[in-house]
Amino acid sequence: MKIAVCPGSFDPVTYGHLDIITRACDIFDRVYVAVLPNLGKEALFTPSERVEMLIRATKDLDTVICEEFNGLVVEYAKLRGAVAIVRGLRAVTDFEVELKMASMNHYLDKDVETIFMMTSNEYSFLSSSAVKEVASLGGNVSAWVPSFVAEALSRKYSHAQKAEIS
Ligand code: PNS
Repeated sequence: MKIAVCPGSFDPVTYGHLDIITRACDIFDRVYVAVLPNLGKEALFTPSERVEMLIRATKDLDTVICEEFNGLVVEYAKLRGAVAIVRGLRAVTDFEVELKMASMNHYLDKDVETIFMMTSNEYSFLSSSAVKEVASLGGNVSAWVPSFVAEALSRKYSHAQKAEIS
């Protein structure tokens, strides 16, 4: 059985992530989607909120398991018997960061290969940060995230606005 890990912050999951996860399912027998810590980013949603949204968003993909792991991605891959880490590449700007991460992971564990997939054209500009910025300013994000994610974003930001006003 060929197993892969799709790691990320998923804060929150977007159609760009779902595109990569779906395509990974065409190649691997089982795909673990893992919410992992990114020490360089401050998250809007808690890890369990992010896992919950991932579970809902991938409910039609039978071979996907979504969970949280608080540690190194290579440790998680080993724990789950994965042979590959799958990451999406959007643009040249992603390349440097991803190259560093893949090299670091290769150094830590040579048995786990990082595989890159080019994101589909319609999502090449999409990021969770851009979605959060648009949502925080009251813009419509329904083209980029499932409706329950858009609702969760508007709940988070309406609470934040109420706290600012009071
Ligand atoms: O969605 P992101 O924020 O680009 O995902 C980055 C993530 C979470 C995959 C990366 O930060 C990560 O692998 N974190 C776990 C800790 C780790 O293994 N670090 C070593 C790789 S640099």
